[in-house]
Amino acid sequence: VKLQDIDPSKLSILETTTPKELVPPTELVFGRTFTDHMLSLEWTASSGWLAPRITPYQNLSLDPASCVFHYAFECFEGMKAYKDTSGKVRLFRPTKNMERMNKSSARIALPTFDGAAMIELIAKFAALEKRFIPDARGYSLYLRPTMIGTQRTLGVGPPGSALLYVIASPVGPYYPTGFKAVSLEATDYAVRAWPGGVGDKKLGANYAPCIVPQLEAAKRGFHQNLWLFGDEEFVTEVGTMNMFVAIKNKETGQKELVTAPLDGTILEGVTRDSVLSLAREKLAPEGWIISERKYTMPELFEASKEGRLLEAFGAGTAAVVSPVRNISWKGNLVECGLRPDQEAGEVAQKMLDWISARQYGDEEHEWSYVV
Ligand code: COI
Repeated sequence: VKLQDIDPSKLSILETTTPKELVPPTELVFGRTFTDHMLSLEWTASSGWLAPRITPYQNLSLDPASCVFHYAFECFEGMKAYKDTSGKVRLFRPTKNMERMNKSSARIALPTFDGAAMIELIAKFAALEKRFIPDARGYSLYLRPTMIGTQRTLGVGPPGSALLYVIASPVGPYYPTGFKAVSLEATDYAVRAWPGGVGDKKLGANYAPCIVPQLEAAKRGFHQNLWLFGDEEFVTEVGTMNMFVAIKNKETGQKELVTAPLDGTILEGVTRDSVLSLAREKLAPEGWIISERKYTMPELFEASKEGRLLEAFGAGTAAVVSPVRNISWKGNLVECGLRPDQEAGEVAQKMLDWISARQYGDEEHEWSYVV
């Protein structure tokens, strides 16, 4: 796909005259507080991407017939900016988010864009909003690039106009008092993604249908859904995160870190990729096998019964890692290797430490993009 040009040199910045009061860091609720400004770019089929603008954060004004409202022409990204100990702002692996967003937008006939140019703009935007990033570990600025089809039409076709915008929300640590292992309900009556579908794309339309199953699981006392697929009951994802399990091999006793392969039903998580890279770099030399392969609930059930399911965790941008205590499946509570007094397994804890070190720039690494 030829990416469409954006010209960052045409950026105009209109700063707010009414700066917001900062919310005390400990009072931040995920995604509820926003910064002073937003970054926006309009696109039309005839002119391509128009000049980027940073303006005060404001409502959008859209025609009620805009195609986003009718046929779900919307995709988004989740990424974070961190403040390092010397006060510099750093993005984490932004190239990955831009690549993924281009795949998402291309799939729903929205325009593509030059990712490097967009990163330059996002970096300027994040720098402008620096005062919103609290100075404490675990805090960051969650960035939400969003693209919508804006053409005023009820005709079902490719949008002739689009809006790409980025808003920013200061966020605290997902688990302010340390890890809290979650309980999952294996969901067999609803399917999140399927072969040939769009479950590997970050489309808003993939998220809304997951809320009712989430409420159902919550009603029965579970924190999240474990999304399964097919008669084999393949384990795919957990809530809005990729799923990892650590299993001890039945014959050899070798430890294996497993996550589902990118077969089109799995979101191409940036944290997923980071966990796999770090595992190959740091766990493989200790004798671990690192696998992107299909695995099933019966396999986890058996491993758990035999004491070979060492741990399980979700991986995503919002929480980084989210340890799993157990999984309710067919009337069984499948224990995932944690002692009652333990909130995270060894791998989950190490992954959080290793990833954080690169996010906050404690370890200088190419994953960190200094603004
Ligand atoms: C994640 O980072 O786990 C997400 O997918 C977050 C989200 C708020 C959609």
